[in-house]
Amino acid sequence: MNEFKVLLLLICVISITVTQSQKPFYCQAPLPVFIKNIECDHSLSNPSENTNGLTLKMVQVVTRHGDRTPLYSTMNGLMDEWNCTLGSYMLPSQGNNGETLNNVDLLYRKVYLPGREYLPGNCSLGQLTALGYQQHINLGQAFRSLYVYKYALLSETLDESEIWVRSTDVPRTLQSAQGHLTGLYPPGTTGETGQNSVNIIDIFTMDSYFENMEPNNNLCPILVQYYYNNTDSQTYYQFNKENYNLKKEIEQALDINKAPDWSDLMDLFFATQCHGFDLPPGITESVVNATYQASLWENNYLLSPSIVNRLSMSTFFEEIINNIEEFISGNITTKYFIFSGHDDTVGPLMMLFGIDQYWPPYASHVEFELWEDDNSNKFIQLKYNGVSIEVSGCSSTMCPIDEFFETAYSILVPDYSDACQPTSSSNESGSVWP
Ligand SMILES: *[C@@H]1O[C@H](CO)[C@@H](O)[C@H](O)[C@H]1NC(C)=O
Ligand SMILES: *[C@@H]1O[C@H](CO)[C@@H](O)[C@H](O)[C@H]1NC(C)=O
Ligand SMILES: *[C@@H]1O[C@H](CO)[C@@H](O)[C@H](O)[C@H]1NC(C)=O
Ligand SMILES: *[C@@H]1O[C@H](CO)[C@@H](O)[C@H](O)[C@H]1NC(C)=O
Ligand SMILES: *[C@@H]1O[C@H](CO)[C@@H](O)[C@H](O)[C@H]1NC(C)=O
Ligand SMILES: *[C@@H]1O[C@H](CO)[C@@H](O)[C@H](O)[C@H]1NC(C)=O
Repeated sequence: MNEFKVLLLLICVISITVTQSQKPFYCQAPLPVFIKNIECDHSLSNPSENTNGLTLKMVQVVTRHGDRTPLYSTMNGLMDEWNCTLGSYMLPSQGNNGETLNNVDLLYRKVYLPGREYLPGNCSLGQLTALGYQQHINLGQAFRSLYVYKYALLSETLDESEIWVRSTDVPRTLQSAQGHLTGLYPPGTTGETGQNSVNIIDIFTMDSYFENMEPNNNLCPILVQYYYNNTDSQTYYQFNKENYNLKKEIEQALDINKAPDWSDLMDLFFATQCHGFDLPPGITESVVNATYQASLWENNYLLSPSIVNRLSMSTFFEEIINNIEEFISGNITTKYFIFSGHDDTVGPLMMLFGIDQYWPPYASHVEFELWEDDNSNKFIQLKYNGVSIEVSGCSSTMCPIDEFFETAYSILVPDYSDACQPTSSSNESGSVWP
């Protein structure tokens, strides 16, 4: 290794340590290889494990959006001013055929009027920030170094037949997917433009009623019963009792009558710290930590027993499995899938594999990699925020595909539709879908 490379490596390592040590882990998930920018890639150790003699065939990436404003505001002037500079230009297209792109003379931009949102400043609740967008550019760059250069899975110049993109129908996830793709294919690598002046990438989405990248009561009504049962239990009463004083303390400090959910409080505190703002008076580090612990516990508890978690994610996970099967059978040739979602996409997905120890930070990412050896044997490697996961039932992090499928099929709920029907005994009236 020459001196220049050593220096570069040192710079990369230091810049990561410094930027990450000052802020809560929540603010930024580790990149796939522990690099900050693309210059740092090739010299580093193998970012997937046990890849000797294997070729990467296909990857599915599931992400959480990047840094955003909080989802909850106290509405009482105790909050710092939030500053949103990430714009997004719009261009309606009649007939949806892109022809107008040859002839653009006016674009539109949505701008929130200051003082007319919940947050002071000019952001809406949950709006992606410029930093959040950058986090996904960085993520896309890291994936470029891995999947374009190191593993030669994708073409250097965008070939649209190689990628497929899906997002929830929410501005921050749509924009995060755009940041991801901008990092993966930066300007100058976006390929031939055909008949239009620019390429167009479809981002597939659906109405929230049908969205299965998050737990969704509309798709699986029995989840409502599980929710009522879980929250009407000794365990849950005990939890509320233990955290009663903490909640009162927070309500007093924030000068609010009724605190929102633990996760909203956690998110408010972390988002505040992620932006370098001071915590509100009375909210100490230990209150933040206790709020985080309560939030994580409650979230994991409400997804228990494991059937709740499985019902919540079964159809989405099934789509991931189907893509692998269809790719192997030759039905599809797409090599790179992006699923742009939320913490309650990434969290419950990883929980299927028994991983629930921490809340998914901004720009969290999960990779399902399909590998092949010279004898056409297939393998799956599952990675979460830069760490290769030992999936239960698998003999290695490079999991022989039969072993992986066996575990996967034990996670999927075979009689999903029936299993989602509420039992009539427990709640005849049960027509309230929270
Ligand atoms: C908002 O961001 C812009 C651009 O980064 C900066 O010039 C401005 O000072 C910021 N305003 C506040 C209130 O932080
Ligand atoms: C509002 O957003 C614009 C960018 O669109 C930024 O330049 C400006 O500083 C922001 N204003 C406030 C009050 O934060
Ligand atoms: C946060 O709380 C947990 C559980 O109460 C504790 O184990 C941990 O040390 C605390 N961390 C910090 C940084 O205070
Ligand atoms: C591939 O496509 C054929 C024809 O549509 C279908 O019958 C078959 O089940 C597909 N294979 C997989 C693995 O989905
Ligand atoms: C909820 O609890 C009731 C009463 O114990 C029970 O009959 C019902 O099956 C439970 N529902 C679920 C979905 O577990
Ligand atoms: C039945 O549903 C209602 C809401 O419609 C809820 O308030 C109540 O706790 C539920 N009861 C049981 C036993 O699940």
